[in-house]
Amino acid sequence: MGAQTSHRYFVTGGAGYIGSHTVLALLRDGHDVTIFDNFSNASRDVIDRLGALAGKAPVLIEGDIRDEAALTSALTAQKYRAVLHFAGLKSVAESVEKPQLYHEVNVGGTEILLRAMEKGGCKAIVFSSSATVYGTHGVSPIDESCSLDPINPYGQSKADCEVLLENNCQNDAEFSAAILRYFNPVGADKSAKIGEMPKGTPANLMPLILEAATGEREKLAIFGNDYDTPDGTGVRDYIHVSDLAAGHTAALPYIEAHPGAHKINLGTGRGYSVIEMIQTFQAVNDVPIPYSIEARRPGDLGEVVANPNYARELLDWQANLGLEDMCRDAWAWKKSIVKSSS
Ligand code: NAD
Ligand code: UD1
Repeated sequence: MGAQTSHRYFVTGGAGYIGSHTVLALLRDGHDVTIFDNFSNASRDVIDRLGALAGKAPVLIEGDIRDEAALTSALTAQKYRAVLHFAGLKSVAESVEKPQLYHEVNVGGTEILLRAMEKGGCKAIVFSSSATVYGTHGVSPIDESCSLDPINPYGQSKADCEVLLENNCQNDAEFSAAILRYFNPVGADKSAKIGEMPKGTPANLMPLILEAATGEREKLAIFGNDYDTPDGTGVRDYIHVSDLAAGHTAALPYIEAHPGAHKINLGTGRGYSVIEMIQTFQAVNDVPIPYSIEARRPGDLGEVVANPNYARELLDWQANLGLEDMCRDAWAWKKSIVKSSS
């Protein structure tokens, strides 16, 4: 169903995993979208695929968010209703090795983006934050009032960006920011034409399950089965990336009408263990996932689940797709990329 009014949105990192699904949702709602991406973690053919899927192509500006002249030129050449800011680096392990780089890209890039938005007169932003900002409180389900306690440079960079956005809102009564704290995005658009394409060795559970399913990886290592959870393995709030994308399209009209900084969890409120993930994946896709039980991963918590009530109240949004959809759609996407690369 098309939106009643069509707007023009500027999407940094729009060729990436979550960005591309959100761009697809915006295009399908009839909006115009400009993607600003340096393709450091995305493939160029995503742009054509989005155009084919939506029947309407996004505009592409290839550039780096650290390039102030490029961002300023883009945001002053055209008036945008809002910016959706996905661009950034996201590997916890890499952030420990290169904390300066994470600060420069994630925090420095956001500062530059905010200055360019000011010059372009754009006063609304949707920002990709993460449940990782909550750190190790161990409270679950966790709501937005919980204090922040990031435990690695990646999490710190997200917390720093949240402060930048809050300051902007304090300094400009017309400015608005949706600070969306994602839980664990998985799955792919049901067309299997776009999805997650991790570069190098993945670190997150679903991409590793997919590698065990194809045989690229001999087996999945389960990091600990002695947590205080029903089967002892870690419990997380996995959310289908298409539901997550819909959370962004729900946030836009809200921030356009409500200035200020709005921190919002995007999760399902339902946790699944690693064992449940494996069992559901095997059952839905009829493919075995060999695994072994290994030591806990340092920094991991037993359970991290969102309290999703605020998003429901504020945005009238909630996740609709279940674990079976997540496993089915992730596998369809993985099979499509394995096939196209063979
Ligand atoms: P992704 O790597 O697939 O997408 C990021 C996109 O930004 C890529 O297209 C990449 O090419 C682009 N990019 C990176 N650095 C850039 C730069 N300097 N200039 C311009 N473009 C640049 O990641 P994703 O999973 O889609 O994540 C999107 C956002 O959501 C990130 O900010 C990430 O930190 C955040 N997030 C992701 C998760 C997750 O599990 N995927 C969870 C919580 C938060
Ligand atoms: C990780 C990051 C977090 C980031 C999030 C989403 C860490 C410590 N945390 O969180 O900052 O926001 O990804 O990108 O890296 N698991 C296994 N075997 C594996 C991989 C994972 O058993 O090979 C387990 C984990 O112990 C956990 C669950 O699977 O219980 C999910 O892991 P993962 O996908 O890495 O997400 P998070 O731990 O939530």
